[in-house]
Amino acid sequence: MNAYQHAYARALDDPEAFWREQAAHLDWYRFPQQITAREPSGHCRWFPDGLLNTCHLAVDRHVENGHGERCAILYDSPVSATQERISYRQLQQRVALCAGMLHALGVEKGDRVIIYMPMIPQAVVAMLACARLGAVHSVVFGGFSAAELAVRIDDARPKALLSASCGIEYERVVPYMPLLEKALELAKYPAQQVVIQQRPQCRAELREGREHDWEALLAAAEPVPPVPLLASDPLYILYTSGTTGKPKGVVRDNGGHAVALNFSMQALYDVQPGEVFWAASDIGWVVGHSYIVYAPLIRGCTTLLYEGKPVRTPDAGTFWRVIDEHRVNVFFTAPTAFRAIKREDPQVLLAKGRDLSCLKAVFVAGERLDPPTGEWLQGFLPCPVVDHWWQTETGWAIAGNPRGLGDYPMKSGSSSLPLPGYRLAILDDAGQPLPAGQPGNIALRLPLPPGTLSTLWGDPQRLVDSYLSQFEGYYCSGDGGYLDDDGYLFVMGRVDDVINVAGHRLSSGSLEEALAEHPAVAECAVVALPESLKGEVPVGFVVLKQGQQPDPAQLERELLALVRQAVGAVASLRRVFVLKRLPKTRSGKILRKTLRSLAVSPEVTPPPTIEDPTVLDELRTLFALAGCYAEQDAAKAATGH
Ligand code: COA
Ligand code: AMP
Repeated sequence: MNAYQHAYARALDDPEAFWREQAAHLDWYRFPQQITAREPSGHCRWFPDGLLNTCHLAVDRHVENGHGERCAILYDSPVSATQERISYRQLQQRVALCAGMLHALGVEKGDRVIIYMPMIPQAVVAMLACARLGAVHSVVFGGFSAAELAVRIDDARPKALLSASCGIEYERVVPYMPLLEKALELAKYPAQQVVIQQRPQCRAELREGREHDWEALLAAAEPVPPVPLLASDPLYILYTSGTTGKPKGVVRDNGGHAVALNFSMQALYDVQPGEVFWAASDIGWVVGHSYIVYAPLIRGCTTLLYEGKPVRTPDAGTFWRVIDEHRVNVFFTAPTAFRAIKREDPQVLLAKGRDLSCLKAVFVAGERLDPPTGEWLQGFLPCPVVDHWWQTETGWAIAGNPRGLGDYPMKSGSSSLPLPGYRLAILDDAGQPLPAGQPGNIALRLPLPPGTLSTLWGDPQRLVDSYLSQFEGYYCSGDGGYLDDDGYLFVMGRVDDVINVAGHRLSSGSLEEALAEHPAVAECAVVALPESLKGEVPVGFVVLKQGQQPDPAQLERELLALVRQAVGAVASLRRVFVLKRLPKTRSGKILRKTLRSLAVSPEVTPPPTIEDPTVLDELRTLFALAGCYAEQDAAKAATGH
């Protein structure tokens, strides 16, 4: 038996012993006596009676263990021309003071704090400060609109909101105050305390009363120590898109999360304390939570905090510069970022003169690593490029190439093997397991391992309804795919209406809600079409109300603006088609999959449930005239879909 098989079998046969051993790698205030507590739903709580503090594990314990001078955070911001090196000791001081600032504002254990911030060190400090107090942070991605922020405010009902005066997108400064004030106006339960980190690129005018200057509050704050918490106490809420417009608040606990992330750093990423780990994502996404902030710090690594893009900040060589300059050992990003670089610098001329020999591995997730991009990367990188599959809900990888447990072959288009603790099954729609090679729903047998979602904020029943009730005894991932004869997983994409744009997860429902707001729109549908840079882009289809005859170009502009305003810039709705009617089933359900297939290729067989197959002929003509098929051929060539 090799190391991976051994670990996998132990986690399967005796999960309590396996995870108890993993838990022993961390410092607990009280080591858990109980390893699991099963709930009637089949879901499980991990280490329920253990006491620990995630901030202590990520920061203080490294200082206590004599590593105070080790670099904890390397901040590299090409957009603000700033670099900063923060040692574990400095991080401890900054986090303790920031926790003191929150405490002085009345934030206590269990209170929620919204963090709406750009990629600056204060954002990481704020997350850790919440963890120190046992306050529950909810980080909201900066590309979301005021309306989306308001929805998240109302769901979490925060005591405080931490933000900055602006973000920087390429060369564009994005002032945050107008957006924050609008969100607080829209919210029914606005935060009573708003703290703003002023940035020199755009200073905010603060209103007396609710709005405070971060640095002024810090100057008056007293440092506070970490608060011992139960392993099952919530660490954070992270909202993610489901199929409806209402986002799901994935709740992460403290204990299972710390144990699982620490395990993943060793078993999957094979990264050692003191090494430099860089996840080029955003703290607003799960990759940022797990692999910019918590996992590298818990493991005692140096985490690289990068405020910039893969391209145009200032050019497509920026990743190679950062890797070389900061001697990055393990790098993680989304395939779309590499496609953006490849588009601008296909010959990788901008890597010339850069020493990338420090790299041990490059990991990608967020979408499947398309074979053309994978091959391009392997053509010049001195290390393996590893695809791994996971979701906001799981918090760490479900499947990947376990670099720390041996050297396993990789297969193009596959995210390799299930990691210890995950029991993968491919099920048909009736819940029956399918043999190797046959595609179906990817499900995970319960219980899920530590680190995965503990509940959905304020709505535990939704956890059961959304994930656990479709196939009894399983968590339903919402992705489709198959296992091959060697047990390698091939993820083929979502089987629901979730859209994945440039590694950003969006719900077609929220985009449809925005389109439906337009007074001329009677009915609409949004589907994702393959695209050469972002992997997928959303495209809208609207049917107009009777008598409506707007100018088509003007209508499209209005609809795109509406979606951008409602969801945020990140929605990236590409275009909108006006249709005479939508394809529907006899019971009136919109056939989104058929719509999507038909926009990709004219060769579509009408589904047996379709109300009127002639609608497909109308659509074929429209899509051909609009140049859809030519565009799709280009996307196919770029992404191998
Ligand atoms: N704050 C404000 N606006 C933001 C934002 C933020 N934090 N993040 C993105 N936006 C804006 C962008 O500026 C862009 O605005 P525009 O329409 O006015 O140009 C819009 O939202 C769409 O952004 P994006 O989808 O990121 O497209 P892009 O063309 O700017 O960049 C990539 C394309 C591929 C370079 C970029 O998406 C990328 O680097 N992706 C990496 C993926 C990633 O980190 N995924 C997370 C999971 S690993
Ligand atoms: P998020 O919750 O935003 O991380 O998005 C999770 C979704 O992204 C998954 O359900 C998949 O659809 C997709 N995804 C993430 N990683 C991969 C991967 N390596 N291969 C294929 N799809 C992926």
